[in-house]
Amino acid sequence: MVDATELPGASKATSNGSGPESAADKTTAGSTRSGAPSGPRYAQIIGWGYEVPSKVITNHDLEQIVETSDEWIRTRTGIEERRVASDPQETTATLGLAAARKALEVADVHPSKVDLIICSTSSPEHIFPSTASIIQDGLGATNAGAFDLSAACSGFVYALSMARGHILAGDAEYVLVIGAETLSRLVDWTDRNTCVLFGDGAGAVLVAASSVPGGIIASELGSDGSGADLLIVPAGGSAIPPSLETVSSGNHFIKMDGKAVFRFAVRVMSDATKAVLARAGLSTDDVDLVIPHQANLRIVQNSVLKQLRIPEEKVFVNLQRYGNTSTASIPIALCEAIKAGKVKPGDHLVFVGFGAGLTWAACAVQWSVPTDRQEADWWRATRRQAGYQAAAARSMWRRAVRWVYQVWPDDPEGSPRRDIEPPKERETPLNGARGGDD
Ligand code: UT7
Repeated sequence: MVDATELPGASKATSNGSGPESAADKTTAGSTRSGAPSGPRYAQIIGWGYEVPSKVITNHDLEQIVETSDEWIRTRTGIEERRVASDPQETTATLGLAAARKALEVADVHPSKVDLIICSTSSPEHIFPSTASIIQDGLGATNAGAFDLSAACSGFVYALSMARGHILAGDAEYVLVIGAETLSRLVDWTDRNTCVLFGDGAGAVLVAASSVPGGIIASELGSDGSGADLLIVPAGGSAIPPSLETVSSGNHFIKMDGKAVFRFAVRVMSDATKAVLARAGLSTDDVDLVIPHQANLRIVQNSVLKQLRIPEEKVFVNLQRYGNTSTASIPIALCEAIKAGKVKPGDHLVFVGFGAGLTWAACAVQWSVPTDRQEADWWRATRRQAGYQAAAARSMWRRAVRWVYQVWPDDPEGSPRRDIEPPKERETPLNGARGGDD
């Protein structure tokens, strides 16, 4: 368990000093995973990172594709531009992996220490295996369990709540929570109702067991499946399996009743915020920063600002530059809020989201770690890079061993099978995932 002096950036003497004491190479003393509980446990966010594709699509670019205008998109949504994974090599896993690497780097925690990886996504690499497992392989997080979480745009906050639960139960010391999307691959670029809204990207945080009070202090999760058809990709699952017909009718694209989702969002954003604050024993006056799901500026204005009367300067919005990146929007906004100096140790934050399902979720967080990130020194950066290359080599080696088992005959007299292809690198080479968001 990480103590006050082990949080990244904490000094040896205080829990919120400015000395560059790192969490790397520290053992998780008192780990309940391997022994008896040792005092109160808290779930602290100790690392963060995000990754967005480099390709920018502005509202003016969209004017060339569908019948829309920059003026309409700005006034109805607040969005000015979004990032789109235009390179086929850029996928939900590559974006998620890059964000996850940055989160581990900020925390200075080795991938082998991660116990669990939760990837929230609605645009996974495949129906299965999970995108989380692919990211686990790319990280070389050899001791981690991994699964995807499907709760659409609320997913990242659901995943934070799961991470907190695992940590408080003593089942994990480090949980990597990732929100990653390439919704541009599910958007119908001829449908102006949806294509102007969404963008691609990923954000990640590392949640650690800690003896420092605070961290993720409360969560509120909700669902109303009676609204399932309001925001849906109808085909491609078991209800309507993919076929030539589903593709020709466009049923594998996102369909949305925007107005109904808007009304629902305004209601649940304020209700969920109130509920999570009540659980945390806080009032709206105690809140230092709200990081809402970045879907539409008018939703934020009508819920958090108007209904809860939280002042504008306490609400972080960056949707003008990224559009709605679904489950990635809150962690990306968190990283940018940190970079903008809006998050300090002791601050009370609220993350609140809504999305398909219908779902909603809120978390109250008491921030505990310094946010003045120390640049990794040359040696650590090189060692980390070598670790990722070793992870790629390990992955390739395992594929090769499986291939040998496949081609080698059970009967020692028989000859090896020649019809089985030798292993290839994944078509979306994770080792190519870029690093460095700033
Ligand atoms: O993560 C959750 C994801 N979903 C959401 O957050 C969606 C929530 N809903 C919204 O954000 C808003 O409802 C939208 C931005 C989707 C739409 O805004 P609205 O103010 O509710 O517009 P509307 O759907 O009532 O449409 C108004 C008009 C319609 O034309 P008519 O019927 O009045 O002639 C639409 O056809 O605007 C038209 N319209 C557009 N015009 C230009 C719809 N989309 C566009 C567009 N460009 N892109």
